[in-house]
This record gives sequence, structure tokens and C-alpha cells, in this order.
Amino acid sequence: MYISDSVKYVGVNDTDIDLFESQYPVEEGISYNSYVIFDNKTAVMDTVDKRKTDEWLKNLEDVSCEPDYLVIHHIEPDHAGSIGAFCEKYPNAKLVSNAKTFAMLPQFFEGLDLESKKVVVADGDTLSLGTHTLKFIFAPMVHWPEVMLSYEESENLLFSADAFGKFGALTDEEDDDWACEARRYYFNIVGKYGAPVSTLLKKASALDIKKILPLHGPVLDKNLEYYIGKYTVWSSYECEDKGFLVAYASIHGNTAEAAEFVAKTLEDKGEMVELFDLCRCDTAEAIEAAFRYDRAILLASSYDGGVFLPMEDFLIHLRSKAYQKRRVALVQNGAWGPTAIRAMKPYLENMKEITLCEKEVTLKSILNESAKKELLSLIDEMM
Ligand SMILES: Cc1cc2nc3c(=O)[nH]c(=O)nc-3n(C[C@H](O)[C@H](O)[C@H](O)COP(=O)(O)O)c2cc1C
Ligand SMILES: [Fe+2]
Ligand SMILES: [Fe+2]
Repeated sequence: MYISDSVKYVGVNDTDIDLFESQYPVEEGISYNSYVIFDNKTAVMDTVDKRKTDEWLKNLEDVSCEPDYLVIHHIEPDHAGSIGAFCEKYPNAKLVSNAKTFAMLPQFFEGLDLESKKVVVADGDTLSLGTHTLKFIFAPMVHWPEVMLSYEESENLLFSADAFGKFGALTDEEDDDWACEARRYYFNIVGKYGAPVSTLLKKASALDIKKILPLHGPVLDKNLEYYIGKYTVWSSYECEDKGFLVAYASIHGNTAEAAEFVAKTLEDKGEMVELFDLCRCDTAEAIEAAFRYDRAILLASSYDGGVFLPMEDFLIHLRSKAYQKRRVALVQNGAWGPTAIRAMKPYLENMKEITLCEKEVTLKSILNESAKKELLSLIDEMM
């Protein structure tokens, strides 16, 4: 991938990983991005996951890299995993990062002689490489405490760490739907940290940015307002589109039928709807849709005096990602003493600015005509 005459891409694709972070299906793989800036001094920007160390070191050789510096923006192992191998191969290179990173680094790599290697930078510090100058911008809790970005002043490049990243290995094809996988990435990985992301966006708005170089996914070099606009909406927890998440957890299929009835009715009214079977779907996709739309309808079977566990698990995920500012309606099913709503409600009541629909619907096993009528009245209230 061409970035500029002085900046080369040396990252790697990982297409044989089963689950990113042991939880996110990535059918299209994921990239661990790394870049080299060539100038009087040569700076390598981040390493890669240790799954791909050898390939990355070969990429460095292929561009004839003789590094003076390794800049560490984020110490999570998907990026920092090859620091040990880097130090072995390039013993004279200095490591550039902040105090928090250097405090954590020995937890990951024992026996690095940090005293002779480390260059500790503060927020706003600069590092001159010759004609290129890196300015460091701290972004604590986007989404780890040590995260920092750097802005290269001569070419207006923002090395954005995990911000603006997305799932999916890099290909030569144009990325025509960046938002889909970037949104799943954002809400599941960074979602809880909307306030720190907003702070970062404010800092970034003072910069003249021509290209964004994230640690995953494509380099962004056109229509930057579009990407920054998406991040502005996402980090503020405002809804991106008017519409519905309809998510259900059904043991024997009756609640599933009710969910399908609800989804179809909404679609017939012209609403945008995404329907998820929480027993089978990628939870991360359902989380993504929950944040995308302004309304959600959650339907679940009762289970052992509580709620069927895939729904409870989903609510725990929503809580973990700081779900808020949405309207939510609840539907339960039970054969003898329905308990699902009683179990679901406390999760939602404890979230910020969640408005629960007054109408609640209880199915006593099958979706009969009277249950349909009730669901229609719940839908009316949610319009
Ligand atoms: C293990 C298990 C526990 C259940 N616990 C309850 C319960 O506590 N209260 C209740 O009313 N129904 C309970 N049920 C019954 C289901 O909630 C009921 O059959 C419901 O109609 C299932 O809807 P579904 O067809 O969408 O799965 C339980 C069912 C199973 C299999
Ligand atoms: Fe990360
Ligand atoms: Fe990452």
C-alpha cells in the first residue's frame, strides 16, 4: 500500500485467526498495521501481534529499514506483541513512548534494558526525524490508559492507534462499506469510552489532517469529515439512524415467532429494522445495531425464575459497553409464571437515559391473536 515517498506500510494481515480478542468473529480477517517513516532518522510506528512477528520483520527488511526509533502508541498485544523480537533484531533502536507504557512494558517483556533504550515523551512533545516531526497526543482510555497518537507535521498524517480502526484484512479493493465493520469494532472495543474519544476528537479538530493511519484497517485519505463525523456521533451515544434493534432469546421458537412478527410489522411501517437471534448470532453484531438505532425491542423466554440466558448475556454486554440514550420495549414468554421482564428490567433501569416502553407484553407460550394485538399496541407506543 502506497502512503507517501517517505512513509511505507509494513503491517500484516491475519486471515487465519479464529476470533479476534477471543470473541469477535472476523471472517474477513484483521490487519495489524505498522508503518515506517524514512528521514535522517528512521522511525517504525508500532509492531504487530506475535502471531505475525516473522512476517513483519521480513517486511521491515524488504523496505531496508534500519530503525533509530520504535514508536509505541498502544501496548495491547495485538500491536506490541513483537517489541521483544524487534529489540533483539535492532538492539540500538530507541523505544519512544510515554511513562505509562514504560511502566507496563516489563509486564509483557522481561529483560529489556529499558534504561538505555527508552525515550519518554509527554503529551504535546515533539520528536524530529529530519524534515518529519512527530507530535505526540495522549489519548488515555481510548481504550487503554497508555494510548497515544502521533501527528506528523510535514505530511499532516495522524497515526491514530486503535481509533478509526476496523475489522477486515487489507485488500487491494476499495473499501465501499467502511462503517459496517468499523462500527462493530468501535462499539464493542471502544464503546464504553465515549467521553475520552470525544476529548480526543476535540484535540484532533485543531489539526490539519490529510491522512489517518490506524492500527487496523485501511488508511483513510479521502472524505475525512465522513469518518470523523461517524466518530463524533458514536462517541456521543447519539443514534446514528432512526430504527429498531429487535433481539430475541427463545428456547422453543415461540418468542422467535413473536420477534419476527414485530420485525415484519415495523418493516411494513417503513422502519429500518435489524433482527437478531441472540442464541445464534454474533453478539457483537447485535451490540453494533443496538447503538446504531434509537430504539430496541427485546423479547425473551422465562427461564428458571429469570430470563433465558442468551438475553441476560446480551444485557450484560450492553451494560459493559455503556448502552444509553435509547428507548427500549420488553416482551416476555413463560409457560407457568413469566419472569423474564422482571429479570431484564433492572439492567436497563440502571443504564443512563434509557426510556422503557410502558406497554409490556407477556406471551403465555404461543403467539396467538391476543398476543399479536398486544404487540401491535406496544409497537404503537414505540413509534
Ligand atoms: C429450563 C427451562 C426453564 C424455564 N423456566 C420458566 C420459568 O421460570 N417460568 C416460566 O413461566 N416458564 C419457564 N420455562 C418455560 C418457557 O419459558 C416457556 O416454554 C416459553 O413459552 C418458551 O418460549 P419459547 O418457545 O420462545 O422458548 C422454562 C423452560 C425451560 C426449558
Ligand atoms: Fe487495543
Ligand atoms: Fe488493536
